[in-house]
Amino acid sequence: MGDDEKVHINIVFIGNVDSGKSTTGGHLIYKLGGIKKDVIEKFEKEAAEMNKRSFKYAWVLDKLKAERERGVTIDISMSKFETTKYHCTLIDAPGHRFHQEHVNRTGSFETGINGQTTEHALLAYTLGVNQMICCCNKMDATTPKYSKGRFEELVTNFSPLLIKVGYNLSDIPFIPISGFVGENIIERSTNLDWYKGPTLFEAIDQIKVPKRPSDKPLRLPIQSVYMIGGIGVVPVGRVMTGVLKPGMAVTFAPTGVQTEVRSVEMHHEGLIEALPGDIVGFNVKNMSVKDLKQGYVASNSNDDPAMEAVKFTSHIIVINHPDGKIPLGYTPIVDCHTSHIPVRFARFVNKLDRRCNFVLEQEPKFLENGDGGLVEMIPTKPMVVEPNAKYSSLARFTVRDTRRTVAVGVIKDVTKKAKTHQDVTLKNGDSGAVDMIPTKPIVVEARRKSGLPPFAFRGMRHTVPQTVPVGFVKDRLKKRKEDQDVILKNSGAKAAKLIPTMAMVARQTVPVRGINDGTKEKDQDAGGSKSKKGIEEVNFDGLSI
Ligand code: GTP
Ligand code: MG
Repeated sequence: MGDDEKVHINIVFIGNVDSGKSTTGGHLIYKLGGIKKDVIEKFEKEAAEMNKRSFKYAWVLDKLKAERERGVTIDISMSKFETTKYHCTLIDAPGHRFHQEHVNRTGSFETGINGQTTEHALLAYTLGVNQMICCCNKMDATTPKYSKGRFEELVTNFSPLLIKVGYNLSDIPFIPISGFVGENIIERSTNLDWYKGPTLFEAIDQIKVPKRPSDKPLRLPIQSVYMIGGIGVVPVGRVMTGVLKPGMAVTFAPTGVQTEVRSVEMHHEGLIEALPGDIVGFNVKNMSVKDLKQGYVASNSNDDPAMEAVKFTSHIIVINHPDGKIPLGYTPIVDCHTSHIPVRFARFVNKLDRRCNFVLEQEPKFLENGDGGLVEMIPTKPMVVEPNAKYSSLARFTVRDTRRTVAVGVIKDVTKKAKTHQDVTLKNGDSGAVDMIPTKPIVVEARRKSGLPPFAFRGMRHTVPQTVPVGFVKDRLKKRKEDQDVILKNSGAKAAKLIPTMAMVARQTVPVRGINDGTKEKDQDAGGSKSKKGIEEVNFDGLSI
Protein backbone atom coordinates (compact mmCIF):
# COMPACT_ATOMS: atom_id res chain seq x y z
CA MET A 1 0.00 0.00 0.00
CA GLY A 2 1.54 3.30 -1.04
CA ASP A 3 1.81 6.12 1.45
CA ASP A 4 -0.86 8.16 -0.23
CA GLU A 5 -3.44 5.41 0.04
CA LYS A 6 -3.20 5.36 3.83
CA VAL A 7 -6.42 6.34 5.55
CA HIS A 8 -6.35 9.36 7.87
CA ILE A 9 -7.61 8.92 11.44
CA ASN A 10 -7.69 11.14 14.53
CA ILE A 11 -6.67 9.72 17.89
CA VAL A 12 -7.48 11.64 21.06
CA PHE A 13 -5.70 10.86 24.33
CA ILE A 14 -8.05 11.31 27.28
CA GLY A 15 -7.55 10.50 30.94
CA ASN A 16 -6.90 11.84 34.38
CA VAL A 17 -4.40 14.62 35.06
CA ASP A 18 -0.82 13.35 35.16
CA SER A 19 -1.83 9.89 33.98
CA GLY A 20 0.85 10.15 31.31
CA LYS A 21 -1.11 11.08 28.18
CA SER A 22 1.47 13.56 26.89
CA THR A 23 4.36 11.28 27.85
CA THR A 24 2.85 8.26 26.07
CA GLY A 25 1.85 10.31 23.01
CA GLY A 26 5.28 12.01 22.91
CA HIS A 27 7.05 8.66 23.17
CA LEU A 28 4.92 7.24 20.37
CA ILE A 29 5.78 10.15 18.09
CA TYR A 30 9.45 9.98 19.03
CA LYS A 31 9.62 6.24 18.29
CA LEU A 32 7.81 6.58 14.99
CA GLY A 33 10.39 8.99 13.70
CA GLY A 34 8.47 12.22 14.19
CA ILE A 35 11.10 13.58 16.58
CA LYS A 36 14.83 13.20 16.05
CA LYS A 37 17.04 11.81 18.81
CA ASP A 38 18.92 15.08 19.25
CA VAL A 39 15.61 16.93 19.82
CA ILE A 40 14.66 14.53 22.61
CA GLU A 41 18.16 14.96 24.06
CA LYS A 42 17.64 18.74 23.94
CA PHE A 43 14.27 18.37 25.69
CA GLU A 44 15.92 16.09 28.25
CA LYS A 45 18.62 18.68 28.95
CA GLU A 46 16.14 21.55 29.20
CA ALA A 47 13.80 19.50 31.35
CA ALA A 48 16.69 18.62 33.67
CA GLU A 49 17.56 22.32 33.97
CA MET A 50 14.01 23.01 35.07
CA ASN A 51 14.13 20.03 37.41
CA LYS A 52 11.51 18.30 35.30
CA ARG A 53 13.54 15.45 33.85
CA SER A 54 10.58 13.09 33.80
CA PHE A 55 8.75 15.33 31.31
CA LYS A 56 11.10 14.99 28.35
CA TYR A 57 8.55 13.04 26.27
CA ALA A 58 5.59 15.11 27.42
CA TRP A 59 7.42 18.14 26.00
CA VAL A 60 7.04 16.78 22.50
CA LEU A 61 3.36 17.68 22.91
CA ASP A 62 3.49 20.28 25.68
CA LYS A 63 5.00 23.18 23.77
CA LEU A 64 3.80 26.12 25.83
CA LYS A 65 6.18 27.61 28.40
CA ALA A 66 3.53 27.48 31.11
CA GLU A 67 2.82 23.86 30.29
CA ARG A 68 6.47 23.01 30.72
CA GLU A 69 6.87 24.96 33.92
CA ARG A 70 3.83 23.41 35.52
CA GLY A 71 4.14 20.00 33.89
CA VAL A 72 0.54 19.96 32.71
CA THR A 73 -1.12 20.19 29.32
CA ILE A 74 -3.10 23.43 29.04
CA ASP A 75 -4.02 23.59 25.39
CA ILE A 76 -4.95 20.88 22.93
CA SER A 77 -2.00 19.93 20.77
CA MET A 78 -1.98 18.02 17.50
CA SER A 79 0.83 16.01 15.91
CA LYS A 80 1.15 13.59 13.05
CA PHE A 81 2.52 10.07 12.94
CA GLU A 82 2.03 6.98 10.81
CA THR A 83 1.30 3.32 11.40
CA THR A 84 1.40 0.60 8.74
CA LYS A 85 -2.21 1.29 7.81
CA TYR A 86 -2.95 4.85 8.90
CA HIS A 87 -1.94 8.48 8.80
CA CYS A 88 -2.73 9.53 12.36
CA THR A 89 -3.32 12.91 13.95
CA LEU A 90 -2.73 12.64 17.66
CA ILE A 91 -4.80 15.05 19.72
CA ASP A 92 -3.46 15.47 23.25
CA ALA A 93 -6.19 16.78 25.53
CA PRO A 94 -5.54 18.28 28.95
CA GLY A 95 -6.75 16.32 31.95
CA HIS A 96 -6.40 19.00 34.59
CA ARG A 97 -9.62 20.93 34.06
CA PHE A 98 -11.71 17.92 34.86
CA HIS A 99 -9.43 17.18 37.76
CA GLN A 100 -9.80 20.58 39.40
CA GLU A 101 -13.52 20.43 39.02
CA HIS A 102 -13.59 17.12 40.73
CA VAL A 103 -11.27 17.96 43.56
CA ASN A 104 -13.38 21.05 44.25
CA ARG A 105 -16.45 18.92 44.37
CA THR A 106 -15.48 15.98 46.52
CA GLY A 107 -12.06 16.59 47.92
CA SER A 108 -11.34 12.89 47.58
CA PHE A 109 -8.78 11.75 45.07
CA GLU A 110 -9.82 8.12 44.82
CA THR A 111 -13.49 8.92 44.12
CA GLY A 112 -12.10 11.60 41.81
CA ILE A 113 -10.47 9.03 39.61
CA ASN A 114 -13.56 6.88 39.43
CA GLY A 115 -16.04 9.68 38.85
CA GLN A 116 -13.80 11.40 36.37
CA THR A 117 -12.93 8.31 34.39
CA THR A 118 -16.59 7.46 33.89
CA GLU A 119 -17.28 11.05 32.88
CA HIS A 120 -14.47 10.99 30.31
CA ALA A 121 -15.76 7.74 28.86
CA LEU A 122 -19.31 9.06 28.74
CA LEU A 123 -18.22 12.25 27.02
CA ALA A 124 -16.15 10.30 24.51
CA TYR A 125 -19.08 8.02 23.70
CA THR A 126 -21.59 10.86 23.43
CA LEU A 127 -19.29 12.92 21.27
CA GLY A 128 -18.91 10.08 18.81
CA VAL A 129 -15.63 8.40 19.76
CA ASN A 130 -16.74 4.93 18.78
CA GLN A 131 -13.48 2.98 19.03
CA MET A 132 -11.48 2.93 22.21
CA ILE A 133 -8.13 1.55 23.34
CA CYS A 134 -7.63 1.39 27.11
CA CYS A 135 -4.03 1.77 28.26
CA CYS A 136 -3.10 1.12 31.84
CA ASN A 137 -0.03 3.34 32.23
CA LYS A 138 2.83 3.55 34.73
CA MET A 139 3.13 -0.22 34.99
CA ASP A 140 6.79 0.38 35.93
CA ALA A 141 5.58 2.08 39.10
CA THR A 142 3.16 -0.54 40.46
CA THR A 143 4.01 -2.55 43.59
CA PRO A 144 5.48 -4.91 42.77
CA LYS A 145 6.67 -3.55 39.44
CA TYR A 146 4.75 -4.68 36.34
CA SER A 147 2.08 -6.28 38.52
CA LYS A 148 -0.36 -8.51 36.66
CA GLY A 149 -2.67 -8.44 39.68
CA ARG A 150 -2.91 -4.62 39.71
CA PHE A 151 -3.59 -4.55 35.97
CA GLU A 152 -6.36 -7.13 36.28
CA GLU A 153 -7.85 -5.27 39.22
CA LEU A 154 -8.09 -2.07 37.17
CA VAL A 155 -9.57 -3.86 34.14
CA THR A 156 -12.18 -5.47 36.40
CA ASN A 157 -13.07 -2.12 37.97
CA PHE A 158 -13.21 -0.14 34.77
CA SER A 159 -15.04 -2.61 32.51
CA PRO A 160 -18.53 -2.21 34.03
CA LEU A 161 -18.20 1.57 33.70
CA LEU A 162 -17.47 1.29 30.00
CA ILE A 163 -20.44 -1.04 29.49
CA LYS A 164 -22.70 1.35 31.40
CA VAL A 165 -21.63 4.21 29.18
CA GLY A 166 -22.48 2.24 26.05
CA TYR A 167 -19.23 0.69 24.79
CA ASN A 168 -18.98 -2.93 23.69
CA LEU A 169 -16.22 -4.49 25.80
CA SER A 170 -15.22 -7.10 23.23
CA ASP A 171 -14.12 -4.27 20.90
CA ILE A 172 -11.80 -2.62 23.44
CA PRO A 173 -8.21 -3.81 23.95
CA PHE A 174 -6.78 -3.27 27.47
CA ILE A 175 -3.01 -2.78 27.33
CA PRO A 176 -0.56 -2.56 30.25
CA ILE A 177 2.06 0.04 29.27
CA SER A 178 4.75 2.34 30.53
CA GLY A 179 4.68 5.52 28.51
CA PHE A 180 7.87 6.75 30.11
CA VAL A 181 10.01 3.61 29.87
CA GLY A 182 8.43 2.67 26.56
CA GLU A 183 6.95 -0.73 27.44
CA ASN A 184 4.31 -2.09 25.04
CA ILE A 185 4.19 1.21 23.18
CA ILE A 186 5.79 -0.13 20.01
CA GLU A 187 8.07 -2.93 21.16
CA ARG A 188 6.71 -5.78 23.21
CA SER A 189 7.78 -5.54 26.83
CA THR A 190 9.76 -8.38 28.38
CA ASN A 191 8.81 -7.07 31.84
CA LEU A 192 5.16 -7.57 30.93
CA ASP A 193 5.58 -11.00 29.34
CA TRP A 194 2.39 -12.24 31.00
CA TYR A 195 0.47 -9.97 28.61
CA LYS A 196 -0.26 -11.54 25.21
CA GLY A 197 -2.39 -8.89 23.50
CA PRO A 198 -1.39 -6.14 21.04
CA THR A 199 1.02 -3.29 21.82
CA LEU A 200 -0.37 0.25 21.58
CA PHE A 201 1.06 0.61 18.07
CA GLU A 202 -0.52 -2.70 16.95
CA ALA A 203 -3.85 -1.76 18.55
CA ILE A 204 -3.88 1.53 16.61
CA ASP A 205 -3.18 -0.37 13.42
CA GLN A 206 -6.06 -2.74 14.25
CA ILE A 207 -8.57 0.10 14.54
CA LYS A 208 -11.41 -0.56 12.12
CA VAL A 209 -11.37 1.81 9.15
CA PRO A 210 -13.93 4.41 10.22
CA LYS A 211 -17.01 4.76 8.04
CA ARG A 212 -16.58 7.98 6.10
CA PRO A 213 -19.86 9.75 5.41
CA SER A 214 -18.33 11.45 2.35
CA ASP A 215 -21.43 10.69 0.26
CA LYS A 216 -23.54 12.97 2.48
CA PRO A 217 -23.87 16.74 1.98
CA LEU A 218 -21.05 18.81 3.47
CA ARG A 219 -21.12 19.83 7.13
CA LEU A 220 -18.08 21.58 8.57
CA PRO A 221 -18.49 23.24 11.98
CA ILE A 222 -16.04 26.11 12.43
CA GLN A 223 -13.58 25.82 15.26
CA SER A 224 -11.72 29.09 14.75
CA VAL A 225 -11.26 31.84 12.16
CA TYR A 226 -7.96 33.39 11.12
CA MET A 227 -7.01 36.38 9.04
CA ILE A 228 -3.81 35.51 7.23
CA GLY A 229 -1.85 38.29 5.57
CA GLY A 230 -1.64 37.89 1.81
CA ILE A 231 -4.25 35.11 1.83
CA GLY A 232 -7.37 36.38 3.59
CA VAL A 233 -9.94 34.80 5.84
CA VAL A 234 -9.28 31.17 6.79
CA PRO A 235 -11.89 29.32 8.84
CA VAL A 236 -10.60 26.13 10.46
CA GLY A 237 -12.65 23.09 11.37
CA ARG A 238 -13.19 19.40 10.90
CA VAL A 239 -15.13 18.02 7.95
CA MET A 240 -17.92 15.97 9.57
CA THR A 241 -19.71 14.81 6.42
CA GLY A 242 -19.32 15.33 2.69
CA VAL A 243 -16.34 16.78 0.86
CA LEU A 244 -14.88 20.28 0.70
CA LYS A 245 -13.12 21.31 -2.49
CA PRO A 246 -11.53 24.47 -3.85
CA GLY A 247 -13.95 26.29 -6.16
CA MET A 248 -16.99 25.08 -4.25
CA ALA A 249 -19.88 27.45 -3.38
CA VAL A 250 -20.38 27.30 0.39
CA THR A 251 -23.08 28.66 2.69
CA PHE A 252 -22.39 29.49 6.31
CA ALA A 253 -25.24 28.94 8.75
CA PRO A 254 -26.88 30.47 10.74
CA THR A 255 -26.26 33.70 8.77
CA GLY A 256 -26.81 32.17 5.33
CA VAL A 257 -23.82 34.03 3.87
CA GLN A 258 -22.57 32.45 0.66
CA THR A 259 -19.12 32.52 -0.82
CA GLU A 260 -16.60 30.50 -2.79
CA VAL A 261 -13.76 28.36 -1.47
CA ARG A 262 -10.40 29.44 -2.84
CA SER A 263 -8.17 26.77 -1.36
CA VAL A 264 -8.18 23.98 1.22
CA GLU A 265 -5.19 23.06 3.42
CA MET A 266 -4.32 20.37 5.93
CA HIS A 267 -1.02 20.35 7.85
CA HIS A 268 0.17 23.22 5.59
CA GLU A 269 -0.37 21.24 2.40
CA GLY A 270 -2.93 22.13 -0.27
CA LEU A 271 -5.70 19.57 -0.83
CA ILE A 272 -7.82 18.92 -3.90
CA GLU A 273 -10.52 17.67 -1.55
CA ALA A 274 -10.99 17.32 2.20
CA LEU A 275 -12.88 14.30 3.50
CA PRO A 276 -14.76 13.58 6.74
CA GLY A 277 -12.37 13.48 9.68
CA ASP A 278 -9.91 15.91 8.10
CA ILE A 279 -9.16 19.01 10.16
CA VAL A 280 -8.64 21.72 7.54
CA GLY A 281 -8.20 25.42 7.02
CA PHE A 282 -9.84 26.87 3.93
CA ASN A 283 -9.62 30.28 2.36
CA VAL A 284 -12.90 31.93 1.35
CA LYS A 285 -13.53 34.83 -1.00
CA ASN A 286 -14.86 38.27 -0.10
CA MET A 287 -15.37 37.75 3.60
CA SER A 288 -14.28 39.49 6.74
CA VAL A 289 -13.27 37.69 9.96
CA LYS A 290 -16.30 39.28 11.61
CA ASP A 291 -18.65 37.38 9.28
CA LEU A 292 -17.66 34.05 10.80
CA LYS A 293 -17.62 32.69 14.31
CA GLN A 294 -16.88 29.49 16.13
CA GLY A 295 -19.99 27.32 15.95
CA TYR A 296 -21.04 28.45 12.46
CA VAL A 297 -21.38 25.58 10.01
CA ALA A 298 -20.10 25.55 6.43
CA SER A 299 -22.13 23.54 3.91
CA ASN A 300 -22.44 23.14 0.14
CA SER A 301 -24.74 25.90 -1.21
CA ASN A 302 -26.08 23.48 -3.81
CA ASP A 303 -26.63 20.43 -1.63
CA ASP A 304 -28.87 20.74 1.43
CA PRO A 305 -27.23 23.88 2.87
CA ALA A 306 -27.22 24.13 6.68
CA MET A 307 -29.75 26.44 8.34
CA GLU A 308 -30.46 27.97 11.70
CA ALA A 309 -32.44 25.81 14.14
CA VAL A 310 -35.20 27.61 16.02
CA LYS A 311 -36.20 24.59 18.09
CA PHE A 312 -35.13 20.96 18.50
CA THR A 313 -36.27 17.84 20.32
CA SER A 314 -33.60 15.79 22.06
CA HIS A 315 -33.27 12.57 23.97
CA ILE A 316 -31.25 13.56 27.02
CA ILE A 317 -29.81 11.70 29.98
CA VAL A 318 -29.36 13.74 33.15
CA ILE A 319 -26.09 12.77 34.78
CA ASN A 320 -25.20 15.21 37.45
CA HIS A 321 -27.16 18.37 38.18
CA PRO A 322 -26.09 20.15 41.40
CA ASP A 323 -29.74 20.28 42.61
CA GLY A 324 -30.36 16.66 41.65
CA LYS A 325 -32.96 17.57 39.01
CA ILE A 326 -33.50 19.76 35.95
CA PRO A 327 -36.53 22.08 36.11
CA LEU A 328 -38.57 23.38 33.19
CA GLY A 329 -37.17 26.62 31.75
CA TYR A 330 -33.62 25.59 32.68
CA THR A 331 -31.20 27.39 30.31
CA PRO A 332 -27.70 25.95 30.52
CA ILE A 333 -24.88 26.11 27.97
CA VAL A 334 -25.24 23.37 25.37
CA ASP A 335 -22.02 22.24 23.67
CA CYS A 336 -22.86 20.80 20.27
CA HIS A 337 -20.05 20.33 17.70
CA THR A 338 -18.08 23.60 18.04
CA SER A 339 -20.91 25.79 19.33
CA HIS A 340 -21.52 26.73 22.96
CA ILE A 341 -24.91 28.39 23.30
CA PRO A 342 -27.44 28.76 26.14
CA VAL A 343 -30.49 26.68 25.29
CA ARG A 344 -33.81 26.69 27.14
CA PHE A 345 -35.50 23.45 28.18
CA ALA A 346 -38.95 24.55 26.99
CA ARG A 347 -40.96 21.32 27.45
CA PHE A 348 -40.33 17.86 28.84
CA VAL A 349 -42.17 15.63 26.36
CA ASN A 350 -41.72 12.48 28.43
CA LYS A 351 -39.54 10.47 30.79
CA LEU A 352 -38.02 7.33 29.29
CA ASP A 353 -36.57 4.15 30.73
CA ARG A 354 -32.83 4.40 30.09
CA ARG A 355 -32.42 0.79 28.96
CA CYS A 356 -35.43 0.16 26.72
CA ASN A 357 -36.73 3.69 26.06
CA PHE A 358 -40.14 2.69 27.45
CA VAL A 359 -42.22 5.81 28.28
CA LEU A 360 -42.48 6.10 32.07
CA GLU A 361 -44.28 9.44 32.25
CA GLN A 362 -45.77 12.00 29.83
CA GLU A 363 -45.02 15.71 30.25
CA PRO A 364 -43.03 15.43 33.53
CA LYS A 365 -42.37 18.65 35.45
CA PHE A 366 -38.65 17.89 35.80
CA LEU A 367 -36.04 15.23 35.09
CA GLU A 368 -33.86 13.91 37.90
CA ASN A 369 -30.23 12.78 37.88
CA GLY A 370 -30.16 9.40 36.18
CA ASP A 371 -33.40 10.04 34.23
CA GLY A 372 -33.70 9.97 30.46
CA GLY A 373 -36.36 11.74 28.42
CA LEU A 374 -37.39 13.73 25.37
CA VAL A 375 -37.07 17.50 25.72
CA GLU A 376 -38.07 20.39 23.47
CA MET A 377 -35.20 22.86 23.49
CA ILE A 378 -35.03 26.46 22.22
CA PRO A 379 -31.65 28.12 21.59
CA THR A 380 -31.36 31.67 22.94
CA LYS A 381 -29.04 32.68 20.07
CA PRO A 382 -28.83 31.55 16.44
CA MET A 383 -27.59 27.95 16.49
CA VAL A 384 -27.03 25.24 13.90
CA VAL A 385 -27.81 21.63 14.79
CA GLU A 386 -29.07 18.62 12.83
CA PRO A 387 -31.15 15.51 13.57
CA ASN A 388 -29.15 12.42 14.50
CA ALA A 389 -30.60 10.33 11.67
CA LYS A 390 -29.18 12.72 9.07
CA TYR A 391 -25.97 14.20 10.48
CA SER A 392 -25.13 12.44 13.74
CA SER A 393 -21.97 14.49 14.26
CA LEU A 394 -24.07 17.67 14.57
CA ALA A 395 -26.67 16.00 16.74
CA ARG A 396 -24.80 15.04 19.92
CA PHE A 397 -24.33 17.47 22.74
CA THR A 398 -23.35 17.88 26.35
CA VAL A 399 -25.04 20.20 28.81
CA ARG A 400 -22.73 22.20 31.05
CA ASP A 401 -23.50 24.09 34.22
CA THR A 402 -21.12 25.47 36.83
CA ARG A 403 -18.24 23.75 35.05
CA ARG A 404 -19.63 20.27 35.26
CA THR A 405 -21.37 18.03 32.72
CA VAL A 406 -25.00 17.99 33.79
CA ALA A 407 -26.47 15.95 30.94
CA VAL A 408 -25.76 14.48 27.52
CA GLY A 409 -28.17 14.32 24.62
CA VAL A 410 -28.90 13.32 21.06
CA ILE A 411 -31.06 15.47 18.78
CA LYS A 412 -34.00 13.66 17.21
CA ASP A 413 -35.81 16.40 15.38
CA VAL A 414 -35.03 19.98 14.33
CA THR A 415 -37.35 22.86 13.34
CA LYS A 416 -35.34 25.02 10.97
CA LYS A 417 -35.90 28.72 10.53
CA ALA A 418 -38.26 29.26 7.60
CA LYS A 419 -36.47 30.58 4.58
CA THR A 420 -37.49 34.18 4.09
CA HIS A 421 -36.52 36.75 1.53
CA GLN A 422 -34.02 38.07 4.01
CA ASP A 423 -32.12 34.83 3.83
CA VAL A 424 -31.18 35.37 0.22
CA THR A 425 -27.84 37.04 -0.24
CA LEU A 426 -26.96 38.74 -3.48
CA LYS A 427 -23.29 38.82 -4.22
CA ASN A 428 -21.47 41.33 -6.39
CA GLY A 429 -22.68 40.74 -9.91
CA ASP A 430 -25.95 39.03 -8.84
CA SER A 431 -29.34 40.51 -9.54
CA GLY A 432 -32.67 39.66 -8.00
CA ALA A 433 -36.08 40.86 -6.90
CA VAL A 434 -35.98 42.29 -3.40
CA ASP A 435 -38.87 43.29 -1.13
CA MET A 436 -37.75 46.47 0.55
CA ILE A 437 -39.33 48.24 3.48
CA PRO A 438 -38.15 51.83 4.05
CA THR A 439 -37.43 52.79 7.63
CA LYS A 440 -37.98 56.47 6.79
CA PRO A 441 -40.34 58.14 4.33
CA ILE A 442 -39.18 57.76 0.76
CA VAL A 443 -41.07 58.06 -2.52
CA VAL A 444 -40.22 55.76 -5.37
CA GLU A 445 -42.01 54.79 -8.54
CA ALA A 446 -42.34 51.34 -10.06
CA ARG A 447 -40.07 51.22 -13.08
CA ARG A 448 -42.68 49.96 -15.49
CA LYS A 449 -45.07 52.77 -14.49
CA SER A 450 -42.64 55.63 -14.38
CA GLY A 451 -40.71 54.64 -17.47
CA LEU A 452 -37.62 55.68 -15.59
CA PRO A 453 -34.35 53.87 -16.12
CA PRO A 454 -33.15 51.54 -13.36
CA PHE A 455 -31.21 53.16 -10.59
CA ALA A 456 -28.47 51.86 -8.42
CA PHE A 457 -28.27 52.52 -4.74
CA ARG A 458 -26.22 51.68 -1.78
CA GLY A 459 -27.97 50.00 1.12
CA MET A 460 -28.04 47.05 3.48
CA ARG A 461 -24.44 47.76 4.19
CA HIS A 462 -24.77 46.20 7.61
CA THR A 463 -25.66 42.71 6.42
CA VAL A 464 -22.60 41.71 4.49
CA PRO A 465 -19.71 44.07 4.02
CA GLN A 466 -18.62 44.11 0.41
CA THR A 467 -22.01 42.82 -0.65
CA VAL A 468 -24.09 45.32 -2.53
CA PRO A 469 -27.52 44.06 -3.46
CA VAL A 470 -28.65 45.63 -6.68
CA GLY A 471 -32.24 45.36 -7.66
CA PHE A 472 -35.37 47.18 -8.66
CA VAL A 473 -38.20 48.13 -6.45
CA LYS A 474 -40.98 45.98 -7.85
CA ASP A 475 -43.93 48.00 -6.80
CA ARG A 476 -44.83 50.58 -4.29
CA LEU A 477 -47.37 50.90 -1.59
CA LYS A 478 -48.67 54.45 -1.72
CA LYS A 479 -49.52 56.42 1.35
CA ARG A 480 -53.06 57.68 1.65
CA LYS A 481 -53.61 60.78 -0.49
CA GLU A 482 -54.10 63.16 2.43
CA ASP A 483 -50.87 61.98 4.04
CA GLN A 484 -48.88 62.56 0.95
CA ASP A 485 -46.15 65.09 0.93
CA VAL A 486 -45.20 67.00 -2.14
CA ILE A 487 -43.66 64.80 -4.74
CA LEU A 488 -40.97 66.12 -6.98
CA LYS A 489 -41.55 65.21 -10.57
CA ASN A 490 -39.72 65.84 -13.78
CA SER A 491 -41.40 69.14 -14.40
CA GLY A 492 -41.35 72.64 -12.94
CA ALA A 493 -39.45 73.68 -9.84
CA LYS A 494 -39.93 75.51 -6.58
CA ALA A 495 -37.89 75.89 -3.45
CA ALA A 496 -38.01 72.71 -1.46
CA LYS A 497 -35.93 71.33 1.32
CA LEU A 498 -34.73 67.86 0.59
CA ILE A 499 -34.69 65.31 3.34
CA PRO A 500 -32.01 62.70 3.14
CA THR A 501 -33.92 59.44 3.32
CA MET A 502 -31.29 56.76 3.08
CA ALA A 503 -27.67 56.31 2.16
CA MET A 504 -28.02 56.46 -1.56
CA VAL A 505 -25.99 57.01 -4.67
CA ALA A 506 -28.16 57.72 -7.65
CA ARG A 507 -26.58 57.91 -11.05
CA GLN A 508 -29.73 58.79 -12.90
CA THR A 509 -32.35 61.45 -12.44
CA VAL A 510 -34.83 60.09 -9.95
CA PRO A 511 -37.85 61.56 -8.23
CA VAL A 512 -37.14 62.32 -4.61
CA ARG A 513 -39.47 63.41 -1.87
CA GLY A 514 -39.13 66.94 -0.68
CA ILE A 515 -41.00 69.13 1.74
CA ASN A 516 -42.47 72.31 0.44
CA ASP A 517 -41.61 74.64 3.25
CA GLY A 518 -43.13 77.64 1.49
CA THR A 519 -39.89 79.52 1.09
CA LYS A 520 -38.65 80.76 -2.23
CA GLU A 521 -35.17 79.75 -1.43
CA LYS A 522 -33.43 77.42 -3.76
CA ASP A 523 -31.80 74.38 -2.23
CA GLN A 524 -28.29 74.87 -3.48
CA ASP A 525 -27.06 71.48 -2.41
CA ALA A 526 -29.62 69.67 -4.47
CA GLY A 527 -28.68 71.68 -7.53
CA GLY A 528 -32.28 72.00 -8.67
CA SER A 529 -34.05 74.85 -10.44
CA LYS A 530 -37.04 76.85 -9.30
CA SER A 531 -40.59 76.22 -10.40
CA LYS A 532 -43.98 77.64 -9.54
CA LYS A 533 -45.57 74.36 -8.54
CA GLY A 534 -43.37 73.63 -5.54
CA ILE A 535 -41.88 70.76 -7.37
CA GLU A 536 -38.30 70.40 -8.26
CA GLU A 537 -36.33 68.23 -10.57
CA VAL A 538 -33.22 67.03 -8.92
CA ASN A 539 -30.29 65.58 -10.65
CA PHE A 540 -28.44 63.28 -8.37
CA ASP A 541 -25.75 62.33 -10.76
CA GLY A 542 -22.76 61.35 -8.64
CA LEU A 543 -24.31 62.85 -5.54
CA SER A 544 -24.40 60.94 -2.33
CA ILE A 545 -26.93 61.86 0.35
P1 GTP B 1 -2.06 16.50 31.85
O1 GTP B 1 -1.79 16.85 30.44
O2 GTP B 1 -1.64 17.56 32.79
O3 GTP B 1 -3.47 16.05 32.09
O4 GTP B 1 -1.09 15.24 32.22
P2 GTP B 1 -0.64 14.05 31.27
O5 GTP B 1 -1.65 12.94 31.39
O6 GTP B 1 -0.30 14.52 29.92
O7 GTP B 1 0.67 13.52 32.03
P3 GTP B 1 2.19 13.75 31.62
O8 GTP B 1 2.54 12.98 30.40
O9 GTP B 1 2.47 15.20 31.66
O10 GTP B 1 2.92 12.99 32.82
C1 GTP B 1 2.78 13.36 34.17
C2 GTP B 1 3.89 12.75 35.03
O11 GTP B 1 3.79 11.32 35.03
C3 GTP B 1 5.30 13.05 34.51
O12 GTP B 1 6.17 13.25 35.60
C4 GTP B 1 5.67 11.81 33.76
O13 GTP B 1 7.07 11.59 33.69
C5 GTP B 1 5.02 10.75 34.62
N1 GTP B 1 4.79 9.55 33.81
C6 GTP B 1 4.17 9.48 32.63
N2 GTP B 1 4.19 8.20 32.18
C7 GTP B 1 4.83 7.47 33.11
C8 GTP B 1 5.17 6.08 33.21
O14 GTP B 1 4.90 5.27 32.33
N3 GTP B 1 5.81 5.71 34.33
C9 GTP B 1 6.15 6.56 35.33
N4 GTP B 1 6.79 6.06 36.39
N5 GTP B 1 5.86 7.87 35.26
C10 GTP B 1 5.21 8.32 34.17
MG1 MG C 1 -0.59 16.29 29.07
